[in-house]
Amino acid sequence: MKYFIRAVTLSIIITGLLLSWATFASESESVGAATYNEKGELVLPEGFREWVFIGAPLTPNGLNNGEAGFPEYHHVYVNPDAFAVYKRTGRFPEGTVIAKELVLLQSGDYPDGSKNAASGRGFFAGDAHGMDVMVKDTSRFSETNGWGFFNFGHHAVPYERTAVAASKSECAACHTANAGKGMVFQSYYPVLRR
Ligand code: HEC
Repeated sequence: MKYFIRAVTLSIIITGLLLSWATFASESESVGAATYNEKGELVLPEGFREWVFIGAPLTPNGLNNGEAGFPEYHHVYVNPDAFAVYKRTGRFPEGTVIAKELVLLQSGDYPDGSKNAASGRGFFAGDAHGMDVMVKDTSRFSETNGWGFFNFGHHAVPYERTAVAASKSECAACHTANAGKGMVFQSYYPVLRR
């Protein structure tokens, strides 16, 4: 009986330790999905289409006098470890990577670019057509409010393999001015609203 009680006590302690380690590991400050080459350029993230898909803003030409800067769908993904921390804490941890892939509309039946489908008239996703990435790293990107901004091309695949950090005026300035302190346009993604 004595041994049994000891064994039970021991397993409770071990389980406790494992649980606290797991909590610590998942909340530790770095989720590390970003890799850089020897020149400090960001390497195109692999497998981002299997990350957590958070939403698809759309600013079509048909609603922007035919001249939208980004007329494609903006398919936005967050690396899963960072998403898990966000869900618990409401904040993106260091190392968060957010990928925004531009996806063309299928060619339309109407001047506004929309087309008919069995479900009704609307917009439907065609081919991939560009890639923007944000990485949270407060010390590396202190100049641009704690996030690095990267463009891997605005064209059909394949995208550039690496990208240099964009200047403040190219990207971060607009996010700083319009997205609020967190730098991410949270209100456009249902799963990020809290
Ligand atoms: C003129 C303002 C503006 C500029 C400049 C800009 N963005 Fe954004 N960005 C937005 C807005 C608004 C959204 C969300 C809505 C959307 O996608 O249309 C967004 C969304 C994003 C997202 C998805 C996460 C989020 O915050 O919603 C990424 C990643 C991103 N931008 C990267 C970039 C990169 C990289 C550059 C520079 C090459 C850049 N942005 C330049 C306004 C801007």
